[in-house]
Amino acid sequence: MADAERLKRLRDVCARESLADGGRAVTFEIQRAGRAVAAFAYAFKGEVHAAVNVCPHRGTPLDWQPGEVFDESGIYLICATHGALFEPDSGLCIAGPCGGASLQKLPVRVIEGRVELTIDHRAIPGELDPK
Ligand code: FES
Repeated sequence: MADAERLKRLRDVCARESLADGGRAVTFEIQRAGRAVAAFAYAFKGEVHAAVNVCPHRGTPLDWQPGEVFDESGIYLICATHGALFEPDSGLCIAGPCGGASLQKLPVRVIEGRVELTIDHRAIPGELDPK
């Protein structure tokens, strides 16, 4: 497989139309240091975002059911474990036990109706484990 094709496959996340504003996220995995790491893509105010599915408080996934990451209002991301609230656009925790910490956002864009990571996810820097 050519490098360009392989990278395209690594970067592909989901169809843009599968993401509704403030609705269910699409879960996917990235590979880092030889292990799978959960992530999710979501839409908010017309923009597409993605983040590693690891709460900065205790390192648990945010979703209580696959892709259920928004609170009832559809305005904030919420952690199912202790209820921390995060700004969907920045990933910043604005309420809860990890206030001031942030989700690890992943860079995405929409190309021809598909959501894709903008870089090879294996090259994304940063610590995935909770502090
Ligand atoms: S693990 Fe997310 S708020 Fe505690």
